Amino acid sequence: MALIELRELRKEYEMGSETVYALAGVDLDIERGEYVAIMGPSGSGKSTLMNLVGCLDTPTSGGYVLNGQTVQGLEDEELARIRNREIGFVFQTFNLLPRTDALRNVELPLVYSGTPAKERRRRALEALERVGLGDRVRHQPSELSGGQRQRVAVARALVNSPSILLADEPTGNLDTATSLEILALFDALHEAGNTILLVTHEDEVAAYAQRRIHLRDGRVESDDTSGRTVGRAVG
Ligand SMILES: Nc1ncnc2c1ncn2[C@@H]1O[C@H](COP(=O)(O)OP(=O)(O)OP(=O)(O)O)[C@@H](O)[C@H]1O
Ligand SMILES: [Mg+2]
Repeated sequence: MALIELRELRKEYEMGSETVYALAGVDLDIERGEYVAIMGPSGSGKSTLMNLVGCLDTPTSGGYVLNGQTVQGLEDEELARIRNREIGFVFQTFNLLPRTDALRNVELPLVYSGTPAKERRRRALEALERVGLGDRVRHQPSELSGGQRQRVAVARALVNSPSILLADEPTGNLDTATSLEILALFDALHEAGNTILLVTHEDEVAAYAQRRIHLRDGRVESDDTSGRTVGRAVG
């Protein structure tokens, strides 16, 4: 059984008299441990797909099974629970709380899931160590570089040990050298067994994934599983 099973997934928006077909019937299976790049032109449905997979949004129709659990049709509260347990998100704009140190930012998902304070601290420290920020845990976002901020966001995404890491253009706001740093981190996470779905416009970034899915007009246009096209040159 695949970790993610999407069947005829659709997302439509009524805009006045017009209907926008953001997703127009997507069928996908993603296995545990895969590293997948989602590509396609602006407006092709990439973020919509990520938001549905991440249980931030619900489809208009279609089926979604995540880790053996049927997701479509669940109430918001149940979706939030699944999201907290199964999904880690990384966004282009980091989405960290300002004037809040790295440790506290990473602890937050554990606050929402009701983890005791001592355990929270231990796991947040461990996640920050994992992304190479063990020496920056008391720094606030404004006291960190762009790459370090994104690593805090990755630590926050990982702190609940989710079954899948979703990243929507995680290197979109970073320079080339810093992007390579984040991609090297994703490589390490993938090798440690994490499942990663990454949206990108850039072929150079997509080349790190083992599988590249192109969307166009809300549909899967191509699904290339020929493997990664770059060597392990970064680090
Ligand atoms: N809340 C909404 N209401 C109406 N239309 C929407 C809404 N969200 C997205 N859309 C439309 O759905 C389509 C897909 O949007 P989506 O954000 O998934 O594109 P994308 O592939 O992520 O694009 P980009 O590369 O620019 O981020 C677009 O045509 C967009 O205008
Ligand atoms: Mg988008």
